[in-house]
Amino acid sequence: MRMRRLSPDPSTVDVAAAYAYPPGASRDGTWVRANMIASADGAAALEGRSGGLGCAADRELFALLRGLCDAVVVGAGTVRAEGYGPARPGPSWGRLREGRPATPAIAIVSRSLDLDFGSPIFTEAAPDAATMVLTVQGADPARLEAARERAEVIVAGTGSVDFGSAFAQMAERGYRRLLCEGGPHVLAQIAAAGLLDELCLTLSPVLAAGASQRVLNGPPLPGARAGLRLVHALVDAEDEGFLFLRYVRATA
Ligand SMILES: NC(=O)c1ccc[n+]([C@@H]2O[C@H](COP(=O)([O-])OP(=O)(O)OC[C@H]3O[C@@H](n4cnc5c(N)ncnc54)[C@H](OP(=O)(O)O)[C@@H]3O)[C@@H](O)[C@H]2O)c1
Repeated sequence: MRMRRLSPDPSTVDVAAAYAYPPGASRDGTWVRANMIASADGAAALEGRSGGLGCAADRELFALLRGLCDAVVVGAGTVRAEGYGPARPGPSWGRLREGRPATPAIAIVSRSLDLDFGSPIFTEAAPDAATMVLTVQGADPARLEAARERAEVIVAGTGSVDFGSAFAQMAERGYRRLLCEGGPHVLAQIAAAGLLDELCLTLSPVLAAGASQRVLNGPPLPGARAGLRLVHALVDAEDEGFLFLRYVRATA
């Protein structure tokens, strides 16, 4: 992947180094990064999926960010819409995963547990990166049992997953460098809870209009939770139409 930096100063860039997780962390060693893509007019999906917004460099960055994280956190809506499978090792991951499982675990957020527990995301995940399900007390007992047979289940909260509790339980299991891949409903709740440390946003050179969600979909955020600081802006050296923006929370 060849990227050029526009900001802070124009130069070529070591992309893996540019996206390294901070050595210190915000809470109990946990750092929550989100990776999202939006059209130039703010749409988070085209025809119900994000794939139409992307490009080769965005897909490579998506894979690199997976290689850097301990676990991917993703809403069940995205798993269903995008047909998620388990993470597969990336060609350039070798050194990034030294001392860790070859792939990150995927943690699916679901209240209904309306998930296909016979699908590859559960059956083909590596044993040392078993898929997790983040759910609530009072979830349907039969589905909970099915989930426990195929996944590591974390119960956090009643009625709605409490992300602070869920991430603390993930940290106890060694998952501290977290990557949220959306969707917009899950991401808005993580931000509202004050848990979002970083947003990696790809801006796609396309207009969408229509009624698509934005990358966060939830009630307005309090101002103190909303401020971001730009860490860098990159462009793909071969296709300068896409912008790769890395923000951290203004107070980080
Ligand atoms: N542009 C991008 O980068 C990007 C990234 C990801 C997704 N997307 C797009 O966004 C759309 C899907 O996103 P979405 O926002 O509709 O769905 P989502 O956030 O991925 O998932 C929503 C689901 O997550 C579960 N959930 C959310 N909050 C919960 C909580 N607090 N407690 C328990 N369960 C909770 C529920 O699952 P249950 O229904 O199972 O209870 C809910 O229906 C798709 O079109 C996808 O293509 C775009």
